[in-house]
Amino acid sequence: MKRYFDKDFWWGAATSGPQSEGRFNKKHANMFDYWYEVEPDAFFDNVGPDVTSNFYNSYKDDIALMKSIGLNSVRTSIQWSRLIDDLELGTLNQDAVDFYNDVIDEFIKNDIKPIINLHHFDLPVELYHKYGGWESKKVVDMYVLFAKQCFKLFGDRVKDWFTHNEPIVVVEGEYLHEFHYPKLVDGKKAVQVAYNLNLSSAKAIKEFRSLGLDKDGGRIGIILNLTPTYPSSNESKDLEAAEFAELFNNRLFLDTAAHGEFPAKLVEILRKDNVLWESTDSELKIIKENTIDVLGVNYYHPNRVKAPDVSPNSVGAWLPDRYYDEYLLPGRRMNIDRGWEIYPKALYDIAMNIKENYNNIPWFVSENGMGISNEENFMSEDGVVQDDYRIDFINEHLIYLHKGIEEGSNCFGYHLWTPIDCWSWVNAYKNRYGLISNNIHTQIKTIKKSGYWFKEVTELKCIEDNLKYYE
Ligand code: GAL
Repeated sequence: MKRYFDKDFWWGAATSGPQSEGRFNKKHANMFDYWYEVEPDAFFDNVGPDVTSNFYNSYKDDIALMKSIGLNSVRTSIQWSRLIDDLELGTLNQDAVDFYNDVIDEFIKNDIKPIINLHHFDLPVELYHKYGGWESKKVVDMYVLFAKQCFKLFGDRVKDWFTHNEPIVVVEGEYLHEFHYPKLVDGKKAVQVAYNLNLSSAKAIKEFRSLGLDKDGGRIGIILNLTPTYPSSNESKDLEAAEFAELFNNRLFLDTAAHGEFPAKLVEILRKDNVLWESTDSELKIIKENTIDVLGVNYYHPNRVKAPDVSPNSVGAWLPDRYYDEYLLPGRRMNIDRGWEIYPKALYDIAMNIKENYNNIPWFVSENGMGISNEENFMSEDGVVQDDYRIDFINEHLIYLHKGIEEGSNCFGYHLWTPIDCWSWVNAYKNRYGLISNNIHTQIKTIKKSGYWFKEVTELKCIEDNLKYYE
């Protein structure tokens, strides 16, 4: 059976400035530029962010390739560390202004809608060293200066804006689980950072509207990795663990962005544990009044949890993990290269959650995808990666997404991570996600089998539902 999508459906792909442009001509180092300078060994094969996919130099050819595989919309991000010269004053770097203007015009010339995100884990590192980065409300205000410059410069042509990509990853990576520089383990700071990121998003949204950019079809939102939480059993201790995980990992950002309020139950727990953030009434008012128009959802894998092995009342430094443990489902289907479970039905669950609990806000899948190692092993003699596994992965996720749309969820698009193989933080180029491969030694870019397949899907606006059974 065929499943048809709306004629205006966004068929696209997502990347980010720090993962595709390369460090060329940048005045400031971001957190990853700096981390690579001081600890190159932390990155797979010692490959850092200096060149990535060379988009700064090859954007015209890259965009032509994106066009050739049928993409009608592409997300990237503007690097704060590139656009702004004086971070305190928010003055502009002319080379960066020219670059981003050209990129946006080039997308539009190719009939690709440019979707712009403002912050993708790439805080200018000086702001961390000087002020503690997102721990500081001064940095929140500097981010708003940067956002305002972006809106003023590009808001005439860019209609779809996002304030942050996966802000919870900043909290987890930098302050809890040590996978992003500065690799702190500090629950109290983590909670303040989460609050400040929420505040910065609301303040940027306020700025967007005060410039009048919400008129004329302009929209602004946030991109969240809504990894749905599934309890290991129906026992109350596992259900409670799942509830906390959902509150901390998802609702801390989603409720705040969509409803303008932090979830009361989470606030109560954080207050009882003496780790609640510092806030003021006027900040909470800004958060209340500046909710999102639109939501981007990144989805890769489910989050299965069980009651923690230790008691939540344990003594010692506060970390959110005291309330839940990861649960590995026996017999789960895996992408072994990336270490992530594959569970397409979650996209249907996400669609229903947004419909039922978030006023059916307009949303799109802003990232979904499959990272595979050593894809050259799947290359045919003519140099095309035969990535049938990626085609099956996308197709199956689209089936479940379509079921959600059929049942009334307001989803208007699907973006794959990523158009052209790009640099993935500490994993660098270990796992490849693109519809187009990139030989990082020559920067020669070649469409994969999935790229040709995706083009066909965007033309027919439909997919084949070949599932024998639904979960
Ligand atoms: C996401 C992130 C992207 C990309 C992707 C695949 O969490 O937003 O930047 O790295 O994972 O690794």
